[in-house]
Amino acid sequence: MGKAQGAGMEYGRAGVPAAEQCQWLWTQRPACTVTAASSQCQRREATLVRVIVTGATGKMGRRVIDLVHADPEVELVGAITHRTHAALGRDAGAVAGIGPIGVVVEHDCTRTLSQADVIIDFSVPDAALAYIRLAAAHAKAMVVGTTGFTAAQHTEIRHLSQHMPCFMAPNMSVGVNVMLHVLGQLVTLLGPGYDIEILEAHHRTKVDAPSGTALRMAAVVAEARGNVLDDVAVYGRRGMIGRRSDTEIGIQVVRAGEIVGEHTVLFGGPGERLELVHRSQSRDTFASGALRAAKWMMQQPWGLYSMEDLLRLT
Ligand SMILES: NC(=O)c1ccc[n+]([C@@H]2O[C@H](COP(=O)([O-])OP(=O)(O)OC[C@H]3O[C@@H](n4cnc5c(N)ncnc54)[C@H](OP(=O)(O)O)[C@@H]3O)[C@@H](O)[C@H]2O)c1
Repeated sequence: MGKAQGAGMEYGRAGVPAAEQCQWLWTQRPACTVTAASSQCQRREATLVRVIVTGATGKMGRRVIDLVHADPEVELVGAITHRTHAALGRDAGAVAGIGPIGVVVEHDCTRTLSQADVIIDFSVPDAALAYIRLAAAHAKAMVVGTTGFTAAQHTEIRHLSQHMPCFMAPNMSVGVNVMLHVLGQLVTLLGPGYDIEILEAHHRTKVDAPSGTALRMAAVVAEARGNVLDDVAVYGRRGMIGRRSDTEIGIQVVRAGEIVGEHTVLFGGPGERLELVHRSQSRDTFASGALRAAKWMMQQPWGLYSMEDLLRLT
């Protein structure tokens, strides 16, 4: 457990002894309970994972709400957007396009927080950080899908995760995470004679670039070559740039139409080219990953976790 994921981010359980952390056991069997090991912990029985979705009005939030509503093991208890959103006061299911589900879109989750086991966030970085602070203050589990955090925000999240179980993944798809897992091995096996470029493409409304996934792929490549990403990353090229260096990692970004998400790692070698490509065809790959993470987090002590931990890729 605990491999790095995300730019400048260290993952893994925080340094709080397991016995002093609050074990929230998610189970379908009501008889199964966990007893508190310290004053931080509470005894409780759980049959359902109760979820608040922050960023409920967005493309991802709406898909998460649909999947939560369809899953008998999960219950939606809150749907949150910002305070000036036109959907405030509307039924979250209607906003998600699945018809009324009896949960109203609000701008403040303090009312529903006590009813929730976990917050699933797909919003914007500043808002997500505010929700993570709130979750830490109330020792609630958090699943963070939002990308585009600054290095300082990543550092704060790492500290906050010492007070809550916090799951963070810039890409919740199983395929991308397995791709990340084999990428370092591929770089090592191919050796130094290959130029490596990373290309990513997303829809026209994505606000951060390059994607968190592309940055993570670049970090894995740099690490496998014994380099620091900041020393070797080249973000786009223009003009009389001269010959490409052997060590640089080019990172190219496309924004167009409704592309859900595509990532290519290109290895250009002598007389051949090898490409590792992942294409997300639906946002449900991310939404179902977030839901799976939310359930899994019910069994985790306080600390910071990634898809590598969930998929046991470490
Ligand atoms: N980890 C993954 O697998 C994964 C996959 C896809 C996307 N993402 C990331 O998830 C984030 C959301 O993506 P998206 O495509 O769903 O974007 P989106 O459609 O723009 O959704 C974001 C939603 O959050 C709302 N929002 C803004 N401020 C808020 C606040 N203070 N509280 C609550 N909600 C607020 C936005 O309101 P408006 O409608 O007014 O803008 C919007 O409805 C992005 O960072 C994206 O990169 C991650």
